[in-house]
Amino acid sequence: MEVIIQRDYQQMSKTAAQIVVEVLNTKPNAVLGMATGSTPLGLYQELVRLHTEEQLDFSRVTTFNLDEYVGLPVNHPQSYHYFMHEHFFRHVDIPRNNINIPSGTTSNYPAFCQWYEKRIEECGGIDLQILGIGSDGHIAFNEPGSSLSSRTRLKTLSKQTIDDNARFFDRRADVPVYAITMGVGTILDAHKLVLVASGSSKAKAVAQAVEGPVTSMVTASALQLHRDAIVIVDEAAAASLTMREYYEFIYAAKPAAPRA
Ligand code: PGA
Repeated sequence: MEVIIQRDYQQMSKTAAQIVVEVLNTKPNAVLGMATGSTPLGLYQELVRLHTEEQLDFSRVTTFNLDEYVGLPVNHPQSYHYFMHEHFFRHVDIPRNNINIPSGTTSNYPAFCQWYEKRIEECGGIDLQILGIGSDGHIAFNEPGSSLSSRTRLKTLSKQTIDDNARFFDRRADVPVYAITMGVGTILDAHKLVLVASGSSKAKAVAQAVEGPVTSMVTASALQLHRDAIVIVDEAAAASLTMREYYEFIYAAKPAAPRA
């Protein structure tokens, strides 16, 4: 695992965006795995800027989102369909038919989950999966206790996640209790993983994920099993890492990445 510590949220976002650029430079028809939440917003803003100002081309890209709340229609302001459209898709040129987001309103979840997994496979797998991390250590909605070989399925949200996400809803009681989410196994199948984390509320989860034991109690720790996983954190989110100097030494010795 590579750990990159950046001074602030903006630099974290730009560094993550450069990794997306590198993938698209090598493979213009890449399959990108998308994440929602407040953390990747800066990354999406930077990608939109690169698209509008530097002609970063998304016209051959396919995307798969990690998760969606169960029960929220696509036009609900807190649905992940809405989030992705508002913050990313409507600003770039990804063909509509290439955008895949789990359905939070299907009448048959098991069939939908199976179809989603199959569709990822038919598209050749995910080249780069973007990830956030929950304060309970989750990736996507793989809450503590999720099998590390889980696939796309329905998941009950943890109390911690409901508390964390209540800020986006009028009332805590409005936060959905269930989500449809890619599994940890689905995520580990991606060719490359980039996890972004910002702020002191993530410091403990980041340290557990990067330096703790691999455990289903912190599903982000499964990144340790992946051959090409990069964790990009800002200063506050890096606060509990014990091997900081080592990560910084490695990063400083790395040749600069080519620009788009
Ligand atoms: P956040 O969510 O970016 O809004 O903190 C991250 C997550 O729960 O994966």
